[in-house]
Formats: sequence, structure tokens, C-alpha cells
Amino acid sequence: SYLPIQQLLKTTPGPHVTVTVKGWVRNKRESKNALFITLNDGSTINNIQAVAERGPAEAGQLSDDVLKLVTTGACVAVTGTLVESQGAGQAVEVKINNIHVYGPADPDKYPLQPKRHSLEFLREIAHLRPRTNTFSAILRVRHALAFAVHKYFNDNGFYYLNTPIITASDAEGAGEMFRVTTLDPVNPPRTEDGKVDYSQDFFGRETNLTVSGQLEGELGALALGKIYTFGPTFRAENSNTTRHLAEFWMIEPEMAFYELPENMALAEDFVKTVIRYALQHCPDDLAFLDNRLKEEEKMKKKEEQSELGLLEKLQFVISNEFERLTYTEAIDILIQSKPAKKGQFQYEVKWGVDLQSEHERYLVEKHFKKPVILTNYPREIKAFYMKQDDAPAVGARGEVFGPTVRAMDVLFPGIGEIIGGSQREDDLDKLTARMAEVGVEADAIWWYLDTRRFGSAPHAGFGLGFERLVQFVTGMGNIRDVIPFPRAPKQAEF
Ligand code: 4AD
Ligand code: MG
Repeated sequence: SYLPIQQLLKTTPGPHVTVTVKGWVRNKRESKNALFITLNDGSTINNIQAVAERGPAEAGQLSDDVLKLVTTGACVAVTGTLVESQGAGQAVEVKINNIHVYGPADPDKYPLQPKRHSLEFLREIAHLRPRTNTFSAILRVRHALAFAVHKYFNDNGFYYLNTPIITASDAEGAGEMFRVTTLDPVNPPRTEDGKVDYSQDFFGRETNLTVSGQLEGELGALALGKIYTFGPTFRAENSNTTRHLAEFWMIEPEMAFYELPENMALAEDFVKTVIRYALQHCPDDLAFLDNRLKEEEKMKKKEEQSELGLLEKLQFVISNEFERLTYTEAIDILIQSKPAKKGQFQYEVKWGVDLQSEHERYLVEKHFKKPVILTNYPREIKAFYMKQDDAPAVGARGEVFGPTVRAMDVLFPGIGEIIGGSQREDDLDKLTARMAEVGVEADAIWWYLDTRRFGSAPHAGFGLGFERLVQFVTGMGNIRDVIPFPRAPKQAEF
């Protein structure tokens, strides 16, 4: 019978247990009397070993012509008896009766040799890197997390809402959009006053790829109660960092009748539950990635080495309550921190500035030593749709700062911001006044405003960057290594 290696490794061996394995050769070793092949089929981080004894009995089937083609990278089907393994490390192996080569791989040209390749090199051959241990482990963990996301929301009474990819709105009001048009980009038709004539475009208007499904998600929440989106989002921000992609997957729950405290509680329970799911369902892959990270840490300077291993860090996050404090309280901590006093922050901290990842990571990794939820940010640095607080922020020494909104950012070790969310402004007048101040056209999102005109309700939601979650769970330093086909500035090969 044909079984994935994951199941084969759990099968009881015996002289009459004939099996077939189909997969890719990781390594081939030859001795005088035998030939050893390690195979992997992507179903598990573990390989299976197949052994051919050399001798006249097998000579007919395992001809040298066939064996010549069994090289690292070749795709083969091996049939034989499942026997107890002679060597250490695994319980069973296959005693080969027959090998069929589906597709050979020229050993002189195949880029993946049985050795450790750098992540930079593997990024250049992103089409083949899923065949490595590291990337197949990451992709299986990514799958488990995606499944856990759907399971969590389904178990908790949320409906999966598919929001549009092509849209006319800029949900974040940040102008970082990829345009979508059927007009000739070089010579577009123009109206008499010289402007591009979008009435001739496919949709008859200017459209772009979505930066967030939130605004449409709110429409869903104000009809179905609790919804979530889980889809690709696009940002044309030119940030060449280890935490930004031009195309990333976002999970955005939106809940009617939730205010900020319930929103925070949901975010905390949600991330902990999906991390717990990965720990339960991917023990081998996470143990492998933990080990990979330990090897990587050894190459670093002593003072830069992380105190906790990957598995310890995941355990730590799921077993500790996240720290909750306001932006104003966080600024106070940061101003009084050692790095601020010694001038070690690259960006200045004072009330009103947007926090940089160096500040976020100081709070999480050095000050609280656990995940942190910051709330009530200054209104001026957050999006137009966030619910405005009734009174301005007051500092620890009675200083009165500017107006704030009911925003929340969840900050994680090594990552910084992993979730951004808020309670939404449900008052039509306050919302339209704020839109006018920041230049969001009411005509463009009249449908959004209709929810505040007809049966408005308190509601809240948040967005989790899926790749930042996968980064955290796999311990990978660069976000381009946790998505199969990364899209970033100057990177769109396939
Ligand atoms: O903070 P952001 O921009 O918030 C929103 O888009 C809201 N509409 C979410 C909501 O309230 N429904 O993005 C949310 C999260 C960030 O916390 C981050 O994890 C991730 O999305 N993110 C990115 N991930 C990868 N690459 C990028 N360029 C990202 N930009 C944001
Ligand atoms: Mg944000």
C-alpha cells in the first residue's frame, strides 16, 4: 500500500508488510554491500531510510542504470518490506525490492545539496526551498495555524466573511495602495480638463487592491454579530524591513456590542489558542525549528543571544497574562528608561509620537518581559474610524495631553506590533467630523456611513498580520521566510 511517510513511521514492521514510499531523495550513501537512501515526501520533518542490499538476487531489479538516477533531488517510488531499523534514530526502514524513478535530478545542477544552505541563498531559489527541512516545517506550521484560526472563530460563533480584494476605498486612509486599472498606463484617456478619465475604466472609477477588509467587515458585524475575515491584503509601503511584506494575509475579526476591554480579551485568548494548537499539532516541526534557532543563536555574540529557546518562548506567551497599559503610561516608562536617558533610542520618545519597534520591543522584552497591550493612543497618529475618548489623556504628574482614541496594539517579543485594532466610532456626527479633518471623502464611503445612519451599535475589532504570527511561532527572523511566495520591493518572481 502507498502511505505518507508520517504514517509509515508509525506502522508496525514485519516480514510480510510490503510498502511503497513516494518522495524525493534527500541523500544517498553507498557501502560495499548496501545502498542507503533517505527519502522525504513533505508529510513530516522525518525522513525514512530505504536500504538495498547488493547481491545477485537484487541484481535484476536494481540495475546500475536505475541506481545511477537515484540522486539527491530525484523523485522516486520505492517498494519493499517494512523492517525494524538496524541503525539508531528511527524505528523502521524499508528493505528495497524495487525502485521506480519518476524524475531524475542532475546532481551537478540541482541547487539543494545535502548540507545547510543560508536563508539568503534559499530566498533566491524560493521555487525549490519548500523541499528543505526548514521550509517544509515552516509551511506545515503555517498550515496548522491557518486551520487553528478558522477553528477558533468557528468554535466561538463567528462567521467567515469574504471581503473584496479589488475595492474603491482606502480603509486605513494611508494612501499606500496598489492601483488596479484597465486603462493604458502610459497613455490613459483624459477628460477635457486633462485628468485621467476613469469613466472608461472597467469599473468606471479608480480602484485599488485592498489594504484591509475592515470597513466591509464592519458591515458584516452590524448584520451577523460576529464575523472574521482571513485574506490577502496589499500595502505599497516601501519598507524594506524584516517585518513588512507588500502582500500579506490578515485576519480581522469584527464584533457588534464589543467595546475595548472585550476586544482585548478576545485578542489575547485568540492568539494564545492558536499558538497552543500549533504546539499540540506540530511537535516535531517545532522541535526542529527550536533546534535550528539554537544553532543560529550559537553563532551570535554572547550578549545578543536570546535567553529563551523557541518552545520556552511559546510556552511563556500562552501561560502569562498580557500586560495592559495606556499609550500615555508607556511613554512615561520609555522616557524614564535607561536607553532614553543614555540616548540609545534612534527615535525620540515624547507624547504624541508613533512608537517605533525599538520602543515596542523595549517595553516587551526589557521592561515587562511579556506581551503588552497598549491602548488609548493619540488621535492624530491613528486611523479616522477609531472611537474618540471623551477626555484628553492625563499624565502621571497631572499633565494634560491631546485627544486619544480607543485603539489597541498588541506587542510581542521579537516582533513588536502583531495586532492592531480598536473600538470603532459609532456616532455619525463625530465620525464625519473626523473624516473631514483628515480628508477622507464622505461620498467615497457613503455605504460605510449608512451603518451609522441606520441601527448603529457599539462595535470593535482588530487585525492580526498572519505572517507576523507565523514568524513568532517558527522563530524566523525575516518575514520573507514564512510565506511561500514573498512579495516585497523588487521581489515578485513567480
Ligand atoms: O495596524 P494595521 O495597519 O491595522 C489595520 O489594517 C486595521 N484595519 C485592522 C483592524 O482593526 N481590523 O494592520 C494590522 C496588522 C498589524 O498589526 C501587523 O501585524 C500586520 O497587520 N501588518 C503587516 N504585516 C506584514 N506586512 C505589512 N506590510 C503589514 N502591515 C501591517
Ligand atoms: Mg497598526
